[in-house]
Amino acid sequence: MGTSSLQLEYTIWKVLILLTYFVSRIICETGDCREQEFRDHDGNCVLCKQCGPGMELSKECGFGYGEDAQCMTCRPNRFKEDWGYQKCKTCLDCALVNRFQKANCSATSNAVCGDCLPGFYRKTKLGGFQDMECVPCGDPPPPYEPH
Ligand SMILES: *[C@@H]1O[C@H](CO)[C@@H](O)[C@H](O)[C@H]1NC(C)=O
Repeated sequence: MGTSSLQLEYTIWKVLILLTYFVSRIICETGDCREQEFRDHDGNCVLCKQCGPGMELSKECGFGYGEDAQCMTCRPNRFKEDWGYQKCKTCLDCALVNRFQKANCSATSNAVCGDCLPGFYRKTKLGGFQDMECVPCGDPPPPYEPH
């Protein structure tokens, strides 16, 4: 009986040591590449690709992941102006803010909005900053006070 409880203890230790080994292996294999690095076939951390204007990576890259990420053109209605790791951003929607459109969005440049559409005016925020959004003339101010 003394022998079997010793053997049990021994087995538990073996399991614990194996677990520790596998957990630390997982941490080593995924955890020690930096933010902008992926792990290649040989286990080396390699810098993620930077994509040019109008392009972004096909999948997330960094912290050890993203080995087969490729630069691809921004999806429609998205743009990226510069080289870099950043993703394409959504283009400004002039209709949404009730403004004329001065330039269309392209993969490398944002849309440019002009003046307010007829019947809309520029709303000036506290502090004098002008809001992008034009609001309909004669709209009652939003009801701040509870009734
Ligand atoms: C934006 O694109 C539309 C459709 O292709 C075109 O009709 C319009 O003239 C363009 N606007 C500008 C400001 O280039």
